[in-house]
Amino acid sequence: MTITIKDAAGIAGMRVAGRLAAELLDYLAPFVKPGVTTNELDRLADAYTTQVQGAISAPLNYAPGGHNPYPKAICTSINHQVCHGIPNDKPLKKGDIVNVDVTVIKDGWHGDSSRMYMVGDVSVAARRLCNLTYDAMWKGIRQVREGAFLGDIGHAIQTFAEGQGLSVVREFCGHGIGRKFHEDPQVLHYGRPGTLDRLVAGMTITIEPMLNIGRRDIKEMGDGWTIVTKDRSLSAQWEHTVLVTPTGYEVLTLSANSPPIPAFVTPSA
Ligand code: MF3
Ligand code: CO
Ligand code: CO
Repeated sequence: MTITIKDAAGIAGMRVAGRLAAELLDYLAPFVKPGVTTNELDRLADAYTTQVQGAISAPLNYAPGGHNPYPKAICTSINHQVCHGIPNDKPLKKGDIVNVDVTVIKDGWHGDSSRMYMVGDVSVAARRLCNLTYDAMWKGIRQVREGAFLGDIGHAIQTFAEGQGLSVVREFCGHGIGRKFHEDPQVLHYGRPGTLDRLVAGMTITIEPMLNIGRRDIKEMGDGWTIVTKDRSLSAQWEHTVLVTPTGYEVLTLSANSPPIPAFVTPSA
């Protein structure tokens, strides 16, 4: 695999796909309430994607090497689930934290984003984890510009997360994205500054840190997809799709109801 550089038409396509992914997350927000099942969220998401957005749910039947085809349109990862949770008929309950990860394909281009949703009132520890993981994602995003190193992104995320007493999941990473769901390069959420590949304008990548309250170790469940923390501690994740520009970055998965950008982030251009 090689890194793809998007030309003006590709960037235009990625902007549309990114916006649609963000708008899908906006659409789902009011439904994430105690009593709703993740299957219901899945059904709502796929209907909105296909019928309102005229787009395709990329996860449905996605089957990267070694995996059985993913059976749903979205991933819903609750509490100690780290990522790739499969929607089911169990209702969400007050106090749950849930990551909803959506990827839409529009005109052949992929937009990939996830947010944390808090179901009713959640514990102080759960809220802190969600908020700090959001900040960690932005610590990574603000490293992005042409000429920066992939290791700069990972290092910014890791030092912030570990400084807050949280651990960084190592086995899953961000990725290039474009006409394919998962392209090169891998975007690690840990590392050393000045290492790994340099970013080039026109690359589109995701930054999607998974942080745990407890140890970083994970395991896969018997369904072949769901990843959980080994110690069953809470885990959170946020994800944006980002365009590398000559002077900084453009976050492609923003929408009217995206959570506010943290105050420590100053405009990149
Ligand atoms: N959306 C995930 C990511 O951020 C990938 C999910 S793969 C699936 O890369 F098959 F589980 F949907
Ligand atoms: Co992704
Ligand atoms: Co995703």
